[in-house]
Amino acid sequence: MVNYPKAFIYDLDGVITDTAEFHFLAWQKLAEEINISVDRQFNEQLKGINRMDSLDRILERGFSGRIFSNTEKVALATRKNEYYLKLIESIDPSHILPGIETLLQKNKERHIKIALGSASNNASAILDKLELTSYFDYIVDASKVKKGKPDPETFTTAASALGIAPDDCVGIEDAAAGIESINKAGMFSVGIGNAQHLAAADYLVEDTAKLLFEDLIACYSKR
Ligand code: BG6
Ligand code: MG
Repeated sequence: MVNYPKAFIYDLDGVITDTAEFHFLAWQKLAEEINISVDRQFNEQLKGINRMDSLDRILERGFSGRIFSNTEKVALATRKNEYYLKLIESIDPSHILPGIETLLQKNKERHIKIALGSASNNASAILDKLELTSYFDYIVDASKVKKGKPDPETFTTAASALGIAPDDCVGIEDAAAGIESINKAGMFSVGIGNAQHLAAADYLVEDTAKLLFEDLIACYSKR
């Protein structure tokens, strides 16, 4: 029997649009300026992690004995955000990843609620640029949570705002921290990426083009 979830909670960066790449490029530039190398492999540990925690991970990686004051850290994080904002300046609906808008439309057809579960302060602005805001019943961004991913708070906050039990929710993520967050929230987790990083996902596809509503629902129904 087909069993439909009552809500889909989408991560933004790396799921709806490829801003995960822009976060990587901005962190890499900032890190280079303080002589710390950030490569793609290390970047996997930054995906889904909020701004200040990401900076802490970078500083820890390049620890040289220098202690950064809080003021210095805020200045570094602000500089990274300036690089990032420059990179996302020209984002428009053509930057929506393949298959995502179809999925949102199918959610609507089935009266499945839609929420955003993002760690980013820039989330609402990006959804606006993509012209997707009207699909969303609720938006969780960095301002709405105390504990970032991998804590479940991002996803539980979205579910309770929608008034839907975690068991009836599907969460979609490209980050290991995000899949952990969804699983801890007691929801069905969908990973976008490879098994090396996202083995804990209940359902995994390589990229959003392979994320088909019917296949996902078939797997959700069998759980
Ligand atoms: C997450 C990204 O969605 O948002 C992280 O995966 C990013 O890479 C985090 O650091 C915070 O984003 P922002 O826009 O608040 O700096
Ligand atoms: Mg992401």
